[in-house]
Amino acid sequence: MATIDSDILLLESIHPAADEVLIQEGLRISRVDGSLEGDDLVNRIATTRMLGIRSKTRITREIIERSTHLQAIGCFCIGTNQVDLEAAADHGVTVFNSPFSNTRSVAEMTLAEIISLHRRLFDRSMRLHQGRWDKSATAAHEVRGRTLGIVGYGHIGSQISVLAESLGMRVVFHDILPVMPMGNARPCKSLDALLEVADVVTIHVPETEGTRNLIGAAQLERMKSSAALINNARGSVVDLDALRTALESGSIAGAAIDVFPEEPRSNSVEFACPLAGLDNVILTPHIGGSTEEAQEQIAAEVAVKISRFDHTGTTTAAVNVPEVELPVRPADQVRILHFHRNVPGVLSKMHAIIAEHEVNITAEYLRSTGSLSYLIMDCGRLKGTDALQRLESLDETIRMRVLRPE
Ligand code: NAI
Repeated sequence: MATIDSDILLLESIHPAADEVLIQEGLRISRVDGSLEGDDLVNRIATTRMLGIRSKTRITREIIERSTHLQAIGCFCIGTNQVDLEAAADHGVTVFNSPFSNTRSVAEMTLAEIISLHRRLFDRSMRLHQGRWDKSATAAHEVRGRTLGIVGYGHIGSQISVLAESLGMRVVFHDILPVMPMGNARPCKSLDALLEVADVVTIHVPETEGTRNLIGAAQLERMKSSAALINNARGSVVDLDALRTALESGSIAGAAIDVFPEEPRSNSVEFACPLAGLDNVILTPHIGGSTEEAQEQIAAEVAVKISRFDHTGTTTAAVNVPEVELPVRPADQVRILHFHRNVPGVLSKMHAIIAEHEVNITAEYLRSTGSLSYLIMDCGRLKGTDALQRLESLDETIRMRVLRPE
């Protein structure tokens, strides 16, 4: 068996802000610049207890099954699609991510696009690059007084609402949930109602069955012919063929698209999309949330979650296991962190084992979701290893970790 030489292995050039937090918390770090796969990945995981990845490293069920002592995975990014979350939960591997650290970055890019589309900055710039001087005020507008329609008024949508109002825009929004309007923003009764009044429509909904092709030919038809559409959410939400038809026929005036139904897995892969070549369309390679500030915030946030998990067992904001917020372990207590199958009778078996050793349980926490339970027990010092071995070898045990007094 390989020797454990670090507490956490960081892949994919995770921002150094993570190191600051992890080192301060006393964790030993090892790093690999790129992503790893197959045996290379398993062999490196074998030398650590926790793993930090970004979006390129795929953690499959097979990788998890071959990495028996892996305790936690930090996804230093927004999404967690690259990890088989169910497999991780089945093996008591806790997964964290940073879902909202790039909210501001997306909001600012959207704002830049709103202004760029109103001033036709993109096609004017392209023409000048091609040697064509095209100075005119035609079809160039201030955004002040214009109506912005925000579809999906969550973290990003509501942030844009505030920024757009500060530019003097009128804001209307549509969300499937009743949400609190920011400033003077007004909710629209329906998506259709929003599409009919907005000068720019910007989409900020998640990818769900309900948002697939949310904007297709019928919705584009409802928009003003002078309006523009922005999609910085997910590629499945807008039907790009219908959008091309709408742009070419003049049914809408412009678009900015950052996300696509199929995106290349690396920068070296060629990209094709139905909107390529249209001069009233801004295309960007899924960079809405990609800023150095966002990377720094993501790194710090996930590092904090990982180190709290390591020191106390806290799983707050984990994406695949029951969430438990735990206090710091009292210095003289043993803390048993026990993931087990959520079936009746496990607690009484655990209590009986501890009671046999005549040790007092001073605190206990339990959360269950679906088939998984997470029990945390603080107790006095246990003599020998018998009790812990028996707890670990219960039929229902998935994974156990013990934090001990120095
Ligand atoms: P959020 O979860 O805070 O807000 C989403 C909102 O959409 C919620 O209020 C929800 O109720 C609403 N919603 C869901 N289905 C809807 C529907 N059918 N019609 C209207 N509203 C609906 O999410 P957040 O953080 O604001 O992110 C929004 C989207 O932006 C996500 O899809 C996310 O993946 C994407 N995103 C894209 C980035 C990029 O680089 N381009 C970076 C970060 C996020």
